Amino acid sequence: MSATRQLRLGTILHGASGNMSAWRHPAAVADASINFEFVKQTAFKAEEGKLDFIFVADGLYINEKSIPHFLNRFEPLTVLSALASVTKHLGLVGTLSTSYSDPFTTARQFASLDHLSNGRAGWNVVTSPLEGSAKNFSRTQHPEHALRYRIADEYLDVVKGLWDSWEEDAFVRNKESGQFFAPEKLHALNHQGDFFQVAGPLNIGRTPQGRPILFQAGASEDGKKLAAKHADAIFTHHE
Ligand SMILES: Cc1cc2nc3c(=O)[nH]c(=O)nc-3n(C[C@H](O)[C@H](O)[C@H](O)COP(=O)(O)O)c2cc1C
Repeated sequence: MSATRQLRLGTILHGASGNMSAWRHPAAVADASINFEFVKQTAFKAEEGKLDFIFVADGLYINEKSIPHFLNRFEPLTVLSALASVTKHLGLVGTLSTSYSDPFTTARQFASLDHLSNGRAGWNVVTSPLEGSAKNFSRTQHPEHALRYRIADEYLDVVKGLWDSWEEDAFVRNKESGQFFAPEKLHALNHQGDFFQVAGPLNIGRTPQGRPILFQAGASEDGKKLAAKHADAIFTHHE
């Protein structure tokens, strides 16, 4: 093992905790999931402690039996964008589902977060296990497991392609000549697939990281295959 190898550490922002009743503890901040001051202080502590990233999980369906944290919490990219402006070094990793979103919007949102944070954006790619999610997105059916992973695979090809729309030095912004960008450094995607038809190019330039970091947490065979093909970092349960 190389002497320069380092362990990367992150923390999860789970507000009022990952269970039903921790919010009742006398020391608990009961509204932590929707309290930006709490979120900010958690991020500052993580940054001071030299952690590499903060992670925001997400889901798209709740009911009266959901844990308190799920009932009332920030949307990941929104809260991470706010954190981008008050932190300097912390990686900002947010969850977004490939089953209930569009690749063009997702590519744009994470590219924006990467620009806003000077290269600290990460995307936890999930396929949404909760069937009820369909009811919140005008769908009659929740796509079954294998189909969700086929969609995710093509989705990631599209997003990565869109992130390659502009070469790093494409925007020349030459006031004298009037040339704003170099046309040969602009690449349309023209993706025609089973699930997505996306022309591109993306309407935001190449990001500071080249592209945001991809996290994946699939535990099934399909999930592991997707992670092996696309992810930079893999989340796993410990047994
Ligand atoms: C550390 C960790 C974080 C996860 N975060 C989320 C999340 O925020 N949202 C979500 O829908 N699933 C999340 N998952 C679940 C995975 O995306 C995945 O659905 C699960 O591991 C089961 O694998 P499979 O989908 O391949 O069957 C997480 C899993 C792990 C281990």
